[in-house]
Amino acid sequence: MNAQLIVALDVPDTNAMIATVDKIGAAVSFYKVGLELFISAGPQCLAPLHERGKSIFLDLKLHDIPRTVANAVRSAAAHNVSLLTVHAGGGAAMLRAAADAAAEFPQRPRIVAVTALTSLNDTDLQQLGVTRSVAEHARSLGTLAIESGIDGLVCSANEVADLRHEFGPQAVLVTPGIRPAGAETGDQKRVATPAAAVANGASYLVVGRPILEAENPAAAAQAILSEMHNACGEGK
Ligand code: C5P
Repeated sequence: MNAQLIVALDVPDTNAMIATVDKIGAAVSFYKVGLELFISAGPQCLAPLHERGKSIFLDLKLHDIPRTVANAVRSAAAHNVSLLTVHAGGGAAMLRAAADAAAEFPQRPRIVAVTALTSLNDTDLQQLGVTRSVAEHARSLGTLAIESGIDGLVCSANEVADLRHEFGPQAVLVTPGIRPAGAETGDQKRVATPAAAVANGASYLVVGRPILEAENPAAAAQAILSEMHNACGEGK
């Protein structure tokens, strides 16, 4: 299992983004641009990442009618991003429209569907009228997404073993909610350590605050990478 680290660039503007990426340096080659940065800085914020040879995960969590999502996927694909998120809750037609739109591009982005946000637990789902457990909900939405042509899922590291078993080695399984032992959880409720995420079969680990808020972000990223390498038996 060659799990890769993606650092979430949850920063307010392009200058802060460049400072973070340059501080972390060569150790990390994959970055996530989410709503905060993309809305404030616009698609131009992706250029400095391309210039530095970094891969981009555009985390816009698209959730709209099929035609709107398909066109948003086309716009994102034109920016040469490697991974893009949609919400599985958008339904089969929306998921299929997203997958088909991505497939029009020779260097297509892989589309991953968010099942249940890692900030939600069973109680939160009940408030939304979902009576099944987070695990069952994630599996059921995951099945809908994969059967609709989506490449993979965003899920918590606690569900990833089950989903890997269900969807096999080809599924792209992205796990946020990663916290090294002893780190602050913040608003995340379903967290796991980097080692657990790798051992459970994640393809990509998304880490934000434990790296961004560290005194030394490069050292924090390196420590997580070492834990990941040790967990997949490569040792370092
Ligand atoms: O700071 P932290 O490590 O919690 O950041 C996690 C990142 O992953 C955030 O950018 C968040 O938007 C994203 N994410 C998430 N849960 C999902 C999908 C994405 O936490 N289900």
